[in-house]
Amino acid sequence: MRQAGRYLPEYRQTRQQAGSFLDLCYNPDLAVEVTHQPIRRYGLDAAILFSDILVIPHALGRTVSFLEGEGPVLTPICSATDLASLNGEGLLDRLAPVLETVKRLAATLPSACALIGFAGAPWTVATYMIEGGSSKDFAKSKRLMWQQPDVFASLMETVTDATIRYLSAQVTAGAEVLQLFDSWAGVLPELEFRRWCIEPMAKIVAALKELHPAIKIIGFPKGAGILYRDYVAATKVDGISIDWTVPLEWAAEVLQPMATVQGNIDPIAVEVGGEVMDMAVDRLLRILGKGPFIANLGHGIVLSTPPENVKRLVDRIRR
Ligand code: CP3
Repeated sequence: MRQAGRYLPEYRQTRQQAGSFLDLCYNPDLAVEVTHQPIRRYGLDAAILFSDILVIPHALGRTVSFLEGEGPVLTPICSATDLASLNGEGLLDRLAPVLETVKRLAATLPSACALIGFAGAPWTVATYMIEGGSSKDFAKSKRLMWQQPDVFASLMETVTDATIRYLSAQVTAGAEVLQLFDSWAGVLPELEFRRWCIEPMAKIVAALKELHPAIKIIGFPKGAGILYRDYVAATKVDGISIDWTVPLEWAAEVLQPMATVQGNIDPIAVEVGGEVMDMAVDRLLRILGKGPFIANLGHGIVLSTPPENVKRLVDRIRR
């Protein structure tokens, strides 16, 4: 959940050296360095590869840039013609620098520190490709899904296949766990959630487990509500990352018998820190700490978080 990032001064310094954000993702020397930064600072049990979910659209041939203060900007996909311009052939060549980063991380991280590789889930990646960036209502994505179902289905298939190849290559390069971020799963109605979040994820998990039987996979369908249950049951993920709205007792009773639960501290509670954060952590550990559990946030750490709050959080969990 954004271990590295702009809340860390050492990240901001490396980021300046890199030039653009994508240059940082594609520079193994610097990407290895920023992956190590939070591990050095806090001694976490796992490191997440430093990259971004939008390297997939980029590697498929779309233009992707990150504008200061505006987030990601992509050339939007609107039609079958745009779709035809996607090119999966050079995918792994274009992503070779990220795979090199994984290889170097596997060789340099402390042996007790697990290496997590990741990708965006197809629905979330597709929304950025269709909207041309972040969105409030995801109207363009939903219109394409309902008005041009063939174009949408074909885009989803292209992204799903690219994701499987990319994640498989991350495992070969040394990733020990994979996480798929479906950050915008919660904006879909039930049936569309089943079709476009659960089904592609089930396909991805099955394909990766066939290629790499020992690999562990974590899903994060943010905002899925009570559909978290069907998501875990149908996708067969090993781990389920829950957002901060999921009731803990429900998660302990319904999700934990099926999967390792990860989460779910509110990122703003970490920014606020102090007793607000301590009480949230204690309740989390009391309710979920008896079963298979990974202590984490319920979504990405926010930019304004004081690094000492993260230190306090880690120390308290360890105690
Ligand atoms: O946590 C880590 O250290 C691993 C690296 C990581 C990043 N992005 C680095 C990043 C991971 C796992 C991601 C995932 C990601 N990227 C998601 C899924 C998780 C989530 O947050 O929902 C999404 C939706 C993206 C797409 C993305 N990347 C957006 C919307 C933005 C802009 C955010 C903003 O606050 O402006 C990014 C940029 C990004 N990715 C940053 C980092 C550290 C900040 C960019 C910068 O340094 O300028």
